[in-house]
Amino acid sequence: MEHNTRAAFIRQMLKDERTIEPSPEFSYKALVKSRQDYDELYRRSIDEPEAFWGQMARETLDWYRPWDAVEEYDFDSDKPFVRYFRGAELNASYNCLDRHLDGPRRNKAALIWQGEPSEEVEVYTYQRLHREVSKAANVLKGLGVKKGDRVVLYLPMIPQLAIAMLACARIGAIHCVVFSGLSAEALKDRIVDSGASVVVTANYGYRSGKILQLKGICDKALEGCPQVKSCVVVRRIEKRTVMEAERDLWWDDLMAGASPVCEPERMESNDPLFVLYTSGSTAKPKGIVHGTGGYLLYATLTMKYVFDLKETDIYWCTADVGWITGHSYLVYGPLANGATSLMFEGVPSYPKHDRFWEVVEKFGVNILYTAPTAVRAMMKEGERWVNGHDISSLRLLGSVGEPITSKAWMWYYSAIGQGRCPIADTWWQTETGGVMITSLPGAVDMKPGSAALPFFGVAPQVLRPDGTEAAPNEGGTLVVSRPWPGMMLGVYQNEAAFKDVYFPVPGRYLTGDGAYRDEDGYFWITGRIDDVINVSGHRIGTAEVESALVSYLQVAEAAVVGCPHPVKGEGIYAYVTVKEGTVINDDLRAKLVGHVRESIGPIATPDVIHFTAALPKTRSGKIMRRILRKIAAQETEDLCDVSTLSEPSVVRDLIRETKRLS
Ligand code: PRX
Repeated sequence: MEHNTRAAFIRQMLKDERTIEPSPEFSYKALVKSRQDYDELYRRSIDEPEAFWGQMARETLDWYRPWDAVEEYDFDSDKPFVRYFRGAELNASYNCLDRHLDGPRRNKAALIWQGEPSEEVEVYTYQRLHREVSKAANVLKGLGVKKGDRVVLYLPMIPQLAIAMLACARIGAIHCVVFSGLSAEALKDRIVDSGASVVVTANYGYRSGKILQLKGICDKALEGCPQVKSCVVVRRIEKRTVMEAERDLWWDDLMAGASPVCEPERMESNDPLFVLYTSGSTAKPKGIVHGTGGYLLYATLTMKYVFDLKETDIYWCTADVGWITGHSYLVYGPLANGATSLMFEGVPSYPKHDRFWEVVEKFGVNILYTAPTAVRAMMKEGERWVNGHDISSLRLLGSVGEPITSKAWMWYYSAIGQGRCPIADTWWQTETGGVMITSLPGAVDMKPGSAALPFFGVAPQVLRPDGTEAAPNEGGTLVVSRPWPGMMLGVYQNEAAFKDVYFPVPGRYLTGDGAYRDEDGYFWITGRIDDVINVSGHRIGTAEVESALVSYLQVAEAAVVGCPHPVKGEGIYAYVTVKEGTVINDDLRAKLVGHVRESIGPIATPDVIHFTAALPKTRSGKIMRRILRKIAAQETEDLCDVSTLSEPSVVRDLIRETKRLS
């Protein structure tokens, strides 16, 4: 009931009757040139998945040994599983590097790095990157890292992050990248859960002109991780750094003595390539496990088709490598395709609001992949920041992370794409490994605000609560009815969670998102329907924030919900009750905000702390989040059914207090 009202509201917001055709010039040169071509490829991928993926795998990647079976899965049992290319052997770093060294790509830029300070630029050709990765792989081996071991990478957006990831892949170690904006506590939890014995970090980092104390945060985290034997430190900034004897080692010192020759490890296709933690409905983030063969094939193919990749493109994904978008579309996808990937350390608004456009102009970027939150932030600052730069090199734009409203879509299309560049909206998740629903550029018509149509092999459905398929334009739950090669293999160290979270109802993968499909078969994503808030395209579990709040001494109870936010998409709204005798004032509010930032990281900063005397509960004591969400969104006229409340007066008080807060 509640979901349907919310879905209807979002539908209203997203919907734009416009349909925009890709230009004939774009389609003519595109990899998939027409809707008919897309339909044909899609049909084959669904009707003959084994033949389709087998052919794609042979044509796309280099294997040491072929597979015994292409696709095996069971979505129905108590122990659901998925496996691609069983028995086959390959190495991800070989596919991203070595195989490009025989031909002209040898001296092509693989990675262009733009530091936050504008004068700091580094270019890694495929040859140079291969050398650095091989050396780093030997460094890790020298520290005792073996196939199957986990290595935590807590690094900012610097080349050493990509190098360390590929070095792990080269020796068969499993990398766990932790976003460098996360706190010491969050880092510690991930190091402990992954069981890593080596951590790679940087001494400092830059963010909007400020210096991040990464090594200091790491030291704090490591206090709780006695199993970590070595901490390798990249010297990002020449500045005094406290190093602990025996444990801490400088990256540069180790690299200087390392051999540039390292034979890649032969990995079975379903050996894990990496673990990446993401928020869900519980207070504890889940380690999403991705395999080698299926994941790499899916990242490589989606990269090629969704971004219509050409050999000479300069491609820029603005996401941080600490999230899945950076894994699949800054590192693995582009490099496996032999593309040139731009890595940017800075932010769109520093030193001024034209930083993105300065970078596009400086490097002649052709493909830009960014998030709606960045588009909204730039839209708010106005077109004048764009107009001062020549961004005519752009030919394709991408969007990811959250629903893009038709207003933001149109601004992106006209102010940035100058009405010339198609926009590939891309719906997907950490768990899906790669893009699942997209407006394949050049091939399909775009509808501003709709993520459009499924990628090859993807079978999404919108379901009603009773499990039947929703009618056109009827909101429901988005599920996927068969596997695809990029699909997660499981949850690290938690076999039960794979079933409980993703297959609560057997037979279909549950995405956690709401959606509807229009009369043309286009998907419109309406946002999360579980307890996850999407803040600026980042997943924050409400339970994580609540658990941080209640760990503060004076807090009695906390309930956290999302609220509409003009730039972030969703903001964090926290209802808090305090213990008796506590004085409520701005100081306490600031301390609580600081405490959440310390516990999780600045991305989880609550936008509103609403102190109240009591939370609305059912007679059985369950907090009524539906009501809290409505109050936070100031949609209080129609509060639906409050008859199950144990104390209806609580709601009246909350409404009155919200009016005062706003
Ligand atoms: O709610 C959807 C939203 O982001 C969630 C996945 O978040 P994460 O695992 O962090 O991965 C983000 C980058 C792939 C989804 O469940 N989401 C992502 N892309 C879109 C989106 N919502 C609407 N439209 C999108 N294009």
